[in-house]
Amino acid sequence: MSGVTNRTLRALYKPFGLGLTVTEFVSSNALQYGNRRTMEMIDQHGLEHPVSTQLWGNDPQIMAYAAKVVRECGADIVDINFGCPAPKVTKTEGGSACLRDVDRCEAIMRAVVEAVDCPVTVKMRLGWTEQDLVFVEVAKRAQAVGVQAVTLHARTARQFYKGSADWEHIAVLKRAVDIPVIGNGDLDDPSLAMERMRESGVDAVMLGRAVLGNPWLISALRSLMEGEQPQPYPPSAARLRYAIHHYRTMVAEWGEERAVPQMRKHLGYYLKGFAGASELRERVMRTAGAEETIAVVEETTARLESQALVA
Ligand SMILES: Cc1cc2nc3c(=O)[nH]c(=O)nc-3n(C[C@H](O)[C@H](O)[C@H](O)COP(=O)(O)O)c2cc1C
Repeated sequence: MSGVTNRTLRALYKPFGLGLTVTEFVSSNALQYGNRRTMEMIDQHGLEHPVSTQLWGNDPQIMAYAAKVVRECGADIVDINFGCPAPKVTKTEGGSACLRDVDRCEAIMRAVVEAVDCPVTVKMRLGWTEQDLVFVEVAKRAQAVGVQAVTLHARTARQFYKGSADWEHIAVLKRAVDIPVIGNGDLDDPSLAMERMRESGVDAVMLGRAVLGNPWLISALRSLMEGEQPQPYPPSAARLRYAIHHYRTMVAEWGEERAVPQMRKHLGYYLKGFAGASELRERVMRTAGAEETIAVVEETTARLESQALVA
């Protein structure tokens, strides 16, 4: 997930039970120039394998070149993005805009599959608009050129994040192809994810927004998948302790200047669901640096812990 799933986050959350993590999407054009920030995004060193690197672009040859680069940099899987609806991506015909031209999708998939000696997967939306649902066609072509799995976020590009993901379409896709299908969209509860898996018959599910600030969703779902009773989500104080750990790890790995703005976003995800959460979020937004922010979160954490002891 762009701007979110950097290396640190993926390393922190994987032990909660994720089978596979995917990098932020990376522009194939940018990879051609070896831009330092782009190279950081594809850095998979030290992460538990398998790892997947996601690419976006519209030119089959540039995508093939980029695939070779990310493979050399450690990717076990190259994932192609046909899903991003952001205008900065679609105005260059990348991401979900590729779905407006299924021949081009096929050319990109073929070129990438031929370029690398590892599995290639595709992540897509249903189509550009409701009138143009091309997901089955694209998945069939994916299968024909040697793509090894497809993930479907069951919204159209035009929908952005409005409405809800239509899992009926995911079930249709599962019946239409033989390669593994991964279902995605609006899974924010472990029991719901199990139900969606059962109903649609998918081989796996992809978790997105709901995991941010709540990696315990992953362990709960993993338990259910293994036929075990999940642990309840930890109390607020334990969640805040983990947020502090996340913060310190980010500062250690990225330096304060780069960690602070990223962690503002993540703290927004962690600081939810307990009495005083919104006041704490406001206080955190007014802090100047990492130590001050951590001290403010520490103070609330200690208060919640002592309240729990009294209770
Ligand atoms: C901030 C943000 C960044 C995202 N970046 C990517 C991305 O780089 N690649 C991708 O395939 N999907 C990306 N997505 C889409 C998610 O992977 C996922 O398909 C979508 O959020 C629906 O799943 P969810 O309801 O579980 O979040 C992003 C979503 C958000 C909210």
